[in-house]
Amino acid sequence: MGGLRDTLNRPLRDLRISVTDRCNMRCRYCMPREVFGSDFAFLSKVDILTYEEIDRLAGLFISLGVEKIRLSGGEPLLRKGLHELISMLALRDVEIAMTTNGVLLPRYAPALSAAGLDRVTVSLDALDEATFAAITDSGHTVAAVLAGIEAAESVGLGPIKINTVVKKGANEDELLDLVGRFSNRDIAVRFIEYMDVGTTNGWAMNDVVTAAEIRNLLGDLEVIEPSRRGDVAKRYQLPQGGEVGLITSVTEPFCGDCTRARISADGHLYTCLFASQGLDLLTPMREGATDQELLDLIDSCWSSRDDRYSEIRTEVSSVHSRVEMSFIGG
Ligand code: GTP
Ligand code: 5AD
Ligand code: SF4
Ligand code: SF4
Repeated sequence: MGGLRDTLNRPLRDLRISVTDRCNMRCRYCMPREVFGSDFAFLSKVDILTYEEIDRLAGLFISLGVEKIRLSGGEPLLRKGLHELISMLALRDVEIAMTTNGVLLPRYAPALSAAGLDRVTVSLDALDEATFAAITDSGHTVAAVLAGIEAAESVGLGPIKINTVVKKGANEDELLDLVGRFSNRDIAVRFIEYMDVGTTNGWAMNDVVTAAEIRNLLGDLEVIEPSRRGDVAKRYQLPQGGEVGLITSVTEPFCGDCTRARISADGHLYTCLFASQGLDLLTPMREGATDQELLDLIDSCWSSRDDRYSEIRTEVSSVHSRVEMSFIGG
């Protein structure tokens, strides 16, 4: 087990890997269509990590202490043959999770589960079709996401979690319905404060529904003690059974416990969701770097890490360039 620590004494425990920067939705807060339209230059195949390269990096990160790998995108299920990557990772001693918008789960869930995927988290911001359509701007439906959740459940990809980004004026009136829909099914809904990730979504503090406001909407809930250091969601017991989570990156940041590293689809290592630059691992890998050389690069990057963006952001959100969520995988 690696004893690697950053400058704030945080270990490296979680690795989030974006397998594609593409998505079949255009959520207003993540990939607004004006920016990510038909002429947007997505990464080309040669510029993204192959499954062998991802697996090699995963092995190196595991040797440095990583216990959980989360595959994300964009939409990870747009990457062809994702179950092949999962079957490679499944040979390693690591938990494998995936964050998806869910619409392709009916097609792929059985193969993903058979390959060794442990669990999925599905993004769903509303149960009302019109509200969902306005947010996701893509022609996909709530019904399709719900079918995806069913498919995942039926092949044992649980415990399933739901991620709901809460944005003022967009979906606050959906929260109680979402909680009600899933609370009796061992599926935890987690409400996420709308964040200033990337630079294209026009974030403003006024658009954030704060954790305090969400708690008011939900009523008085009992806190569940965290099961693991570094979990992003604060958990609450629901009176009717089940639980709900709050991810309070804006108003109650959790950088102190942040054990997460991210790898973009083009093989750059980011030590913060709000970073403007990553460390290129793809080039050295393709130029023949040895495992030890790559380990040294990762080690020195993590050892010098001092990120705590959410703790120091101002109300206005700083102007420095930030990598897009769809690129780095959330
Ligand atoms: P599990 O607890 O293993 O289920 O995963 P998770 O909650 O870490 O993963 P998930 O992708 O579901 O994270 C939920 C959301 O929290 C993400 O989509 C982000 O919006 C947010 N988030 C996750 N990690 C971070 C982080 O390090 N910093 C900030 N600011 N937000 C994060
Ligand atoms: N703020 C908060 N969460 C976001 N996500 C995407 N963009 C944002 C944002 N600006 C969420 C998605 C998904 C996860 C990967 O990140 O809804 O659940
Ligand atoms: Fe796609 Fe998820 Fe971003 Fe929506 S939030 S555009 S589903 S990557
Ligand atoms: Fe970690 Fe950066 Fe998020 Fe803070 S803002 S929790 S350092 S990823």
